[in-house]
Amino acid sequence: MIPPYGGRPLAPLRVTDTRELQELRLEAEGLPALLLNSAAAANAVMLGAGYFSPLPGYMNIADALSVADTWHTREGLFWPVPCLNLCTAEAVAELGGAERIALRDPNRLGHPVLAVQDLAAVEELSDACLEHLARCIFGSVDREHPGVRVFSTLGSRVLSGPLRVLDGSYFEEDFPGTFRSAPQLRTALEERGWRRTVAFQTRNPMHRAHEELCKMAMQAVDADGLLIHMLLGKLKPGDIPALVRDAAIRKMVELYFPRDSAFIAGYGFDMLYAGPREAVLHAIFRQNAGCSHLIVGRDHAGVGSFYSPFEAQEVFEQHVPPGALQIEIFKADHTAWSRRLGRVVMMRDAPDHKAEDFVLLSGTRVRELLAAGEELPEEFARPEVAAILRDHYRAQNGAEAGARAAAS
Ligand code: ADX
Repeated sequence: MIPPYGGRPLAPLRVTDTRELQELRLEAEGLPALLLNSAAAANAVMLGAGYFSPLPGYMNIADALSVADTWHTREGLFWPVPCLNLCTAEAVAELGGAERIALRDPNRLGHPVLAVQDLAAVEELSDACLEHLARCIFGSVDREHPGVRVFSTLGSRVLSGPLRVLDGSYFEEDFPGTFRSAPQLRTALEERGWRRTVAFQTRNPMHRAHEELCKMAMQAVDADGLLIHMLLGKLKPGDIPALVRDAAIRKMVELYFPRDSAFIAGYGFDMLYAGPREAVLHAIFRQNAGCSHLIVGRDHAGVGSFYSPFEAQEVFEQHVPPGALQIEIFKADHTAWSRRLGRVVMMRDAPDHKAEDFVLLSGTRVRELLAAGEELPEEFARPEVAAILRDHYRAQNGAEAGARAAAS
């Protein structure tokens, strides 16, 4: 199986020893506490689950700038997106100069302790520095970009240092059949005897283009299996909730994939919408999960028109040094429904087609149709998947109408 990223053994920061866990929980109750924001909590979960291996914890300003400017930490590790614990000056004041703190989970009732951090440094980012980081990570400082919008509200204090993670946050409770750590995935793939596994990143329920894309990639790289690896964390408003996506994907795989050819799992991270940089991060954590290939298609991890359609593919030539990654990228062309052939094709494989021969399929278009209460045509979604999505939108529209009526 492919080795973990960074030439070192996989190093999840989650405490697994029961005694150590008990001791840390007890100690944490007496430590000054910081209520994390969701972005920092998601970083802790990813560090805990081994996806961010070999990072030892949150970065300081020098490392964050080094990653932003050179795509490497100061130690020389190739890394695409700073892993930060940002907070406000007020929150820092409450820590009273402590060197060890408890990190509380913003996403669970009662804010239980998610991790314990040794504070190597508490630093302040200037406005100019924050803007520079945003520009490097997201390619933009426009607040209309959902990633920039979140990033610009996190605060200017940078709390760096190693951490020990106590659990898997709400992902473990809410998605017990889907949330998996990188070591758990390695074991699962090994048990199946899969040496060549294609990973499919998604934040959408899978429409026809996604389904066919996965099947084409599996065939092209002669894969033993497919890992459908969905994001379970926070999304921008309007995106489809993870439970609904999970149900739709499971139905599609059950009905339309050969038995035992696809494994469905999820990871606990908030979507950054950072396009090319996020695509490289996606590759790193799929390598850590034991996958040999990652599918990168059109506008991977993108949003609106902030990135060009294939920027997330180009970045692998432009910024990834040869040999840095062992996972290979399956670069998919725009996948669309062919009116002439009555099936989904990759546009580069149908050179005789004219523009009007294609129906362009995208998650955005699927969401638009559903929100307008329209049926999804068969080119867009399998009927059983369409039914799950339609029910979700009906329930959502009904709830919204109810709330409006109650307010008026
Ligand atoms: S993403 O934000 O997680 O990338 P999404 O779930 O829509 O969004 O896409 C998952 C993967 O499928 C990405 O690699 C994306 O580039 C690819 N993809 C989605 N739709 C298409 C399409 N019509 N043609 C080619 N690739 C696509």
